[in-house]
Amino acid sequence: MTTLPLTFIFFFTSSVLLSSSASVETLDLKHHHDDKPYTIINPKLQPNTFTTSNKYEGSSNLVNVQYHMGPVLTSPINIYLIWYGKWTPPQKQTIKHFISSISTNNNHHHLKPSVSDWWKTVTLYTDQTNANISNRIQIRGEYSDTKYTHGTHLTRLTIQDVIASSLKAASFKVNNKNGVYLVLTSDNVTVQDFCRAVCGFHYFTFPSKVGSTLPYAWVGNSGKQCLQVCAYPFAVPGYMGGGGPGSLKPPNGDVGIDGMISVIGHELAELASNPLVNAWYAGSDPIAPTEIGDLCEGLYGSGGGGGYIGNVMKDGSGQTFNMHGVNGRKFLVQWIWSPVLKACTGPNALD
Ligand SMILES: *[C@@H]1O[C@H](CO)[C@@H](O)[C@H](O)[C@H]1NC(C)=O
Ligand SMILES: *[C@@H]1O[C@H](CO)[C@@H](O)[C@H](O)[C@H]1NC(C)=O
Repeated sequence: MTTLPLTFIFFFTSSVLLSSSASVETLDLKHHHDDKPYTIINPKLQPNTFTTSNKYEGSSNLVNVQYHMGPVLTSPINIYLIWYGKWTPPQKQTIKHFISSISTNNNHHHLKPSVSDWWKTVTLYTDQTNANISNRIQIRGEYSDTKYTHGTHLTRLTIQDVIASSLKAASFKVNNKNGVYLVLTSDNVTVQDFCRAVCGFHYFTFPSKVGSTLPYAWVGNSGKQCLQVCAYPFAVPGYMGGGGPGSLKPPNGDVGIDGMISVIGHELAELASNPLVNAWYAGSDPIAPTEIGDLCEGLYGSGGGGGYIGNVMKDGSGQTFNMHGVNGRKFLVQWIWSPVLKACTGPNALD
């Protein structure tokens, strides 16, 4: 789940231990990157107060992400996109390019650090049979509900109605084996807890609503509602604007969509490793599990932590990113907790 507030007590101890990583200043790495069309920056934006609790970079033995014996997504993952509300073609294209960038199949088509290398951290998680999470992800179907069939305010439960009615209307059918349903709500749809407590979440559908138990995720476009919360660091809250560096320039020119990309990455990583909420998470509370994305929320590069996003790249036009995708795309995607390193990591780590 992309939860904003604050699993404070649990995280407080470790952020004290890790505070040295927060004081790392911008590294002079230019000489390593003279041949690259970007420079490495550490924006030193003030921490987003909504998410400062969940930052890890150094390894920590206090974090104990445990396996609870449930399934993970080991078969090639088939994604069904449900576009709820009005979306422009460029908005859809950016999101589809991001999802298409994950699969290892497409890896040789793009530059490093790459989105598919980012997913390699996710594939380190296994099930009881030692089968790894799949590195094959493809979009297998799309459905657009442009009529706001279930209104412009959705709750956790009515999102399942959106899935149910989409399954009836769409050309794709229920895929019980390896289907994942991704509900994306447009900028004028409000969702229960959106902006206040979450930017996205994943769960599974109830047979009584949808006819099957299907893993799904929801992510909303915060464009007209709370960019400072859900599209940070492309938008920073007003109280920070005066006192420090401003917001970063989004790599695909749309703050709401570029903000969604990182949340979609976070939710897909968690959904793959905890699809029925009984597989990989930390903490003892399955109602509020701390999952492999939650541990790294808001962390995008080395030298981050303690609320800072870390070292990321800036290209000639000022767009900020930390990984490449298909079709020459650039994305800024948060890091993922590695069960091997026992730390957050990403393909742009500067080790
Ligand atoms: C599968 O997971 C194990 C355990 O984390 C890891 O050692 C191995 O490299 C993983 N394989 C792939 C292909 O990711
Ligand atoms: C939502 O926004 C779109 C365009 O941004 C507009 O066409 C549509 O009428 C809006 N719908 C509602 C229900 O507000």
